[in-house]
Formats: sequence, C-alpha cells, structure tokens
Amino acid sequence: MKKFIDSPFVKEVSDITLNMYRQGWDERNGGNISYLIDEKYVREYFKEDKVIRKIPLGFEADEIVRGKYFLVTGTGKYFKNVKGDPETNLGLVKICDCGHDAKLIWGFKDGGKFTSEFPAHLMSHAARLKVDPNNRIVMHTHPTYTICMGACLPTDEKIFTRKLWKSNTEAVVVFPEGIGVLPCMICGTNEIGEATANKMKDFRLVSWTNHGIYGVGHTIDEAFGLIETVEKTAQIYMLTLGHVVNEIPDEVIIGLAKLWNLKMMPGVIEEK
Ligand code: 13P
Ligand code: ZN
Repeated sequence: MKKFIDSPFVKEVSDITLNMYRQGWDERNGGNISYLIDEKYVREYFKEDKVIRKIPLGFEADEIVRGKYFLVTGTGKYFKNVKGDPETNLGLVKICDCGHDAKLIWGFKDGGKFTSEFPAHLMSHAARLKVDPNNRIVMHTHPTYTICMGACLPTDEKIFTRKLWKSNTEAVVVFPEGIGVLPCMICGTNEIGEATANKMKDFRLVSWTNHGIYGVGHTIDEAFGLIETVEKTAQIYMLTLGHVVNEIPDEVIIGLAKLWNLKMMPGVIEEK
C-alpha cells in the first residue's frame, strides 16, 4: 500500500503552505487550509478506515460533507513547518455520519487537532458544494495589503469590489462575481463560520475585515490564484492611495467582461 505522507495531496499542501508563508501572509500559526479528498483516492492509501481517535466538531456538519474526507492544517501549527513535518502539522479526517465528530485517519501525530477555523471551512465546503460540486479547497490566510484595504474602506462588498476592479485590469477577469465582505468578528466561532458560508453561496472570495481572507476552488492553484490576485490588487490600491491619476475606466472593465464572456456582479459598475 502507498504511504499517505508520499501522496500528491500532502505534497501540494506542504508546498503551498511554505509558499504562502514566504509571501509574508502567514505569520506564526496564521492561516489554514482544508482539502476535500474523494474516497477513491483515500482508498489508494488506506484499505479501510483505521480511526486513531475521534475529535468533536463543536457544531453539526451539513449532510453534504458527512462521510467525506478532509486533509486539514492543525490548530496552532505554523505554515512554515508543514513541509518539514506534515504528519504533525496536518491531519486527514473523515466527518462522521452523525455530523458531530471527525474521525482522525492520519496525522496530528502530537495529539493535535484541526484548525480552530474548521467551522468556517466545513460550512464553506458545504455551501460551495451546493453550487459547485467540484469544489475541493477552502483556503484562509492573512495577506497584508488585503487587510490594509479592508481597514480603509466601509464594509461594503460593492465598494470593495469596485476599488479592486478599478485598480488592476486582471481583477474583474479573475473574480467577476466580486468579493464578499464580513465586518470584524470574533474568529474561530461557529457564528463567523455561518456568516462566511452564507457569503460563499455567491462568492469564491470572502474578506474578513481586520483579519484576512477566504478563497475556494477546485484546486489549490485556483484558490491560491484568487487570493493572490486580490492581494496583488490590494497592494496596487494601497501603494497608489491618494495619488491616482489613471484609474481604470468603467468602459474598460465592461469591455474586459464582454471579451471574456463574464457575468459581472451587478451594481458595481454602471452600464451606460
Ligand atoms: P489556527 O492556528 O487554529 O488554524 O488559527 C489560525 C488563524 O488564522 C485563525 O484565524
Ligand atoms: Zn486567520
């Protein structure tokens, strides 16, 4: 039997966490990732589920994620350390059919558990799977300029989206549906999880004001690419704030959306 530690799933998460740390986004234990792995792939590494221990979820998981497997980063673990010791810093869990517990199948070797943001992750997986059955990744991180931008704007997703689209021509092309925005809330709670998942019905990106961002996708590349584009654009916005002479004209944003056949978030740019 192949070893799970040698799987492409562990390699991908190990590589991206190091990359994100090196972007300066994931100080200390900042950030967390969860990766839905289809059972057919899990079976390549585990003939059957051998449960190491059960970990209570602290909320009731949506039916759509029950019985599903997630590779997830551990709470209190540092992104920079995942690659060197994936079996301590990551865990593979199966959500119980009852929806109240996670069964640990692999990892969290030091007795650790999944991220404190697992409510937001699992609830976001559930929300995305209902609109996009191919969603596999939920990614949370603390990108500096995105947090700065959120601190400088009202907590209004149309305003946030407009400022992003007006600062970088890639922005409307990469996230034409815009970005969801939550006010500053207490993180690690079921409440912020529910609020995030509610936004995930309409958006693949959700900004947590004064904290960070969530991105989702079919692949790690897709989720990372969304967040990376927001962060690059937020950097442009913050570095030019108060100095802008050439803002992207509305016609160019509309033209880009037409060129790529994209449905733009309504009410952000007025069609003339
Ligand atoms: P965890 O260490 O529990 O994953 O928390 C990090 C974080 O980013 C909290 O929002
Ligand atoms: Zn965080």
